[in-house]
This record gives sequence, C-alpha cells and structure tokens, in this order.
Amino acid sequence: MSSPATGSSVSTASADTAARYLTEDPAKLSIPEIRKRAAHCKACPLYKLGTQTVFGEGPTSAKIVFVGEQPGDQEDRQGRPFVGPAGQLLDRALGEASIERDKVYVTNAVKHFKWEPSGQRRLHKKPNAREIAACQPWLDAELAILNPAIVVALGATAAQALMGKTFRVTQERGRAFRDVPWAKVFFATVHPSSILRGPPEDRAAGFKALVADLKKVAAAL
Ligand code: URA
Repeated sequence: MSSPATGSSVSTASADTAARYLTEDPAKLSIPEIRKRAAHCKACPLYKLGTQTVFGEGPTSAKIVFVGEQPGDQEDRQGRPFVGPAGQLLDRALGEASIERDKVYVTNAVKHFKWEPSGQRRLHKKPNAREIAACQPWLDAELAILNPAIVVALGATAAQALMGKTFRVTQERGRAFRDVPWAKVFFATVHPSSILRGPPEDRAAGFKALVADLKKVAAAL
C-alpha cells in the first residue's frame, strides 16, 4: 500500500512496515510516545545494522521540519540526528540563513544507519526502496503530530519519500510547493553530505547555494 500522507509510490503490499507500531490515528499520539515505539522497530532488517533507532529531534512547536536521508556514523553512536559532519555544515548554513537551529525539528526518512565495513570504518550505504517504505510511517506520524508550516527535504531520498520517485532535487531545489498535505509549504534542497563528498574546490559554491535555498525557506515562514 502506498502512503496516503506522502503519496509515496513505493509498493509495500507484501512487505512489513512501521505501520504495525502505529495502529491509532498518529495525530492523537505524541513525539515522545512514537519515539519510544520506534526504539523497538523491526520493520526492516536495518535494525540489525544500526546501534539504535535515531529518531527525530527538536521542539514540538517547531514551524520547520528538516528531513534528511538516514543517520550517519556519529548519529548512530549518539542516537541523535544531524550531529556529525553533515549536521555541523547544516548548522552553519542555518545560521547564515538566520534560521534558529534550536527552533527547528530535524529527522530522517530512514531511522537506522545503513553501512558497510571498509577497514575500520563504517561506510554510509544508501537505503533501498523497501527500507525507505518500511520506515515511512514514522515520518508520516512525525509530520501528522508536528503539523509544521514548512517541510524541507535535504537530498533526493527525503524529497522522493515525500514527493514521489519522479521528484528531481536538481530541478526543483529552492522552489516553494504549496499543494502538499503535511505542511503549508514544501521545499527541497541538496543534502549537506553531498557538499562534503563533492570536490573541495566546489564546496564554497555548494555551501552558498544551500544557504540561498535556506534563505527562501526563512522568507516563507
Ligand atoms: N545525514 C542524514 O541524512 N541525516 C543525519 O542525521 C546525518 C547525516
């Protein structure tokens, strides 16, 4: 079944999803309650890889929700989203766009760290469609409870989880979408990791473009 709240086009008819932990109307639940349930989520095999579920974090009064792809190495260790290098870059970009970091809620499309070993390191591995679909009920529930004014997808995984597989961040970044069911306005921009992973000589321009997108978000508030 596709997600009614997000319009996800991923078929999960024969697969398990986190919906089994959310049998009530999510809007009647609270973030602490669903965080507690998500801590035991086994809706996809990623719970075996990650140290812990990394749930969304931020004030429940947040007007802006940022959605990333999945926790990274640091997030997996600390159990908190966007605390590693990508999170630090996001913090700096938010500051430059005059968005107060402690007033926003940050979360991910997938709430366990997917990785593969490379020597002593744990290398980020992109979640697949089944894992994204399995986790989607948590994101749907977060958005139903928070009822934010603005949702910002960071990167293609989050943008496509929310807007469907054909959504292209490269074409649509920085544009305000007003006809979405889970916020007044939706924006997509690049994932901060894509700036960090790109060629060093492109980083300053990539960061500037991210800040420009976030300034549009701030202006829409
Ligand atoms: N990348 C993400 O998408 N989310 C995090 O929490 C950290 C890195």
